[in-house]
Amino acid sequence: MDIDQTSKSFHSKLSQIKTSDQLEKLKISYLGRNGQINSFLRLLKDLPQEEKRTFGDKINNLKKEIENAIGQKTITLAQNKTKQDFDTSLPGKKPHVGHFHPTTQMIFRINAFFRYLGYSVYEGPEIETDEYNFAKLNLPQDHPARDLQDTLYIKEPQILLRTHTSSVETRALTNERLPIRIVVPGKSYRNETSNATNNSIFYQYEGLVVDQGISMAHLKGTLIEFVKWLYGPRTKTRFRCKYYPQVEPGAGLDVECTFCWGKGCSVCKYRGYIEVLGAGMVHPNELKACNIDPAKWSGFAFGLGLDRLVMLHFGIEDIRKLYDGSLTFVD
Ligand code: DAH
Repeated sequence: MDIDQTSKSFHSKLSQIKTSDQLEKLKISYLGRNGQINSFLRLLKDLPQEEKRTFGDKINNLKKEIENAIGQKTITLAQNKTKQDFDTSLPGKKPHVGHFHPTTQMIFRINAFFRYLGYSVYEGPEIETDEYNFAKLNLPQDHPARDLQDTLYIKEPQILLRTHTSSVETRALTNERLPIRIVVPGKSYRNETSNATNNSIFYQYEGLVVDQGISMAHLKGTLIEFVKWLYGPRTKTRFRCKYYPQVEPGAGLDVECTFCWGKGCSVCKYRGYIEVLGAGMVHPNELKACNIDPAKWSGFAFGLGLDRLVMLHFGIEDIRKLYDGSLTFVD
């Protein structure tokens, strides 16, 4: 029952300890219920009164000493462990940063061009009314675009998923002050059977200018510059007459195929040109439907299908891949 002896042997055992498991065992053997300290305390009751006190004090001091030493050792072991696990000379790991979806990247690129020309990026709802999507756009009741097979209705006949971003033209013309210069990137919906080149969800990019004295020359100048900016200054373009109910006159813009430079290949189906957008001078009926006087104001508009542009640019062969939520496109 030698306190000093116990202290000595504890410290010598402690100095051998290498792991926290070993330390835990040592702790139990001294401070545990059946440990050394308790066995000393049990002896106390048989001692004469005057010895109880001095011996009691000694046991308590020993207990504190052991507790402190074990506490210190716990810290030392933890420090040694991190020293071993963590090699500070290793170079850091680069955190993985994803990137924007290809469609978003293309939208940002095109926005940059039109912002430079003073356009604002404008948005509208994907769930639309017949009024903004069709009626105000001079789309007569029996126009194929209003066909039930093309349009996905939420509630027939008034509430639908917009079939094009042109619906945002009539919203802007109805709600904003003139003059207007906007571009509208956004999703559109049609009741299509999906395949590699068509999807029932797709992206359009709309443009609209309404001001005083706007002519077809502004339309051509703007769109030719746009294509040159997108595909390079030597890219050839051509306009063809095309019918769109919302414009008069209407035009389709073809861009020389950037894969064969006009020679003809499978991408352009041996035409040498690829049609990229529909455009025209805003129809007076559209202006009137939005309470704008066509005698005073005129404008041009265009709508392009973004998906094919994105697919050609990034070499993506199936449109559905742009919409399937696969992380590979943003990873
Ligand atoms: N809305 C047409 C479509 O979805 C595309 C279009 C054609 C938009 C001519 C326009 C335009 O703004 O002027 O096929």
